[in-house]
Amino acid sequence: MIINLFDLEKKFPKNLTKDIEGYYSSGARDEITLKRNRDVFNNWEILPKFLRDVSKIDTTISILDEKIESPILLAPVAMQQMAHKDGEIATAKAAKKFNTIMTHSTIANYGIDQVGPLHDKLFFQLYFSKDREFTKQMLLNCKKNSYKAIVFTVDAPRLGTREADERNSFKMPKELKLGNFLGTKFENFEKIETYEGSSMAAHSDHLFDPSLTFDAIGWIKEISELPVLVKGILRPDDAQKAISYGADGIIISNHGGRQLDTAVPTLKQIEPIRNQVGKDATLIVDGGIRRGTDILKCIALGADAVQVGRPLLWGLNHDGQKGVELVLDLLNKELIETMILTGCKNIGEISRDLVLFNE
Ligand code: FNR
Ligand code: LAC
Repeated sequence: MIINLFDLEKKFPKNLTKDIEGYYSSGARDEITLKRNRDVFNNWEILPKFLRDVSKIDTTISILDEKIESPILLAPVAMQQMAHKDGEIATAKAAKKFNTIMTHSTIANYGIDQVGPLHDKLFFQLYFSKDREFTKQMLLNCKKNSYKAIVFTVDAPRLGTREADERNSFKMPKELKLGNFLGTKFENFEKIETYEGSSMAAHSDHLFDPSLTFDAIGWIKEISELPVLVKGILRPDDAQKAISYGADGIIISNHGGRQLDTAVPTLKQIEPIRNQVGKDATLIVDGGIRRGTDILKCIALGADAVQVGRPLLWGLNHDGQKGVELVLDLLNKELIETMILTGCKNIGEISRDLVLFNE
């Protein structure tokens, strides 16, 4: 019986090799941040309110003017076809059915032209390639395909070392392609010079541009003419700087504990970052969100919405599009239950005084 996301996690993986499972599940190095992302939710307790007419609950919100069903978004996750043959196509259809935003990764199996037409609430996650012209064409293609925002991931000037991938010599299966790189040497892992260990690490060493600075934000906006969310920020001063360089919002993230191990867990940084950037900036958070109560805590501390990474892979691997829908439905049902039991009729009523830090 599947009644929560952990039940889906237990079923994962179905028909996957050890190296693919390792790639999807692991975090960087000792996986301290991966674990801490979840543990910190237990440091916060809820102070529920009662007698507030919770007969009707409204979970809808707007993110960058997109009205969505619930503050639960689908995070950018690379190479989804390894989990299920329909990959990003299934995820986009599930996002449409549920009416939420999916962020489509640069490192996806299905490309912008294939996923773009499936849903009108798509963001595109950008990794800058060392070839600026290539990056420019990718952004222009997002605009052509009516993507609604660019998610600029900044916490990966290089890939963090996931030791499972090193040990397993992780490689994307030969028969798959990276849909945004067709016809280039980056279309799969076969045409690049790899070294012992993770081919993903080698691939991104060749591809990613580590020379980026805050000026990149303005460049993305100029080319794409789309709002920009900067993903991977953990410090209030960086958040403020990103906003002052033109970002429309911040995604507080440590990449699901996959980049710098022992980096701070995300929940801890929501309130300081909100206090720094003020109420108008869009603030999304990810990392270890698995329960309706997790979502309430993030919003009470100042986030506008949350997003999930690995759970979408568990759902996708379990049952394609339907599996991703299941993830969204389970989590939203828990959020509704949490709102009823805390006296919140709508997301705007989730206030700071609902949560208490307990050391
Ligand atoms: C990711 N994440 C990610 N982020 C990004 O900006 N671009 C990407 O291509 C990917 N790819 C990716 C692959 C896999 C297998 C995972 C698990 C994660 C990070 C993702 O967007 C998000 O920050 C985390 O997954 C959130 O943490 P949880 O929900 O997985 O705990
Ligand atoms: C990862 C990259 C691709 O986390 O974002 O594997």
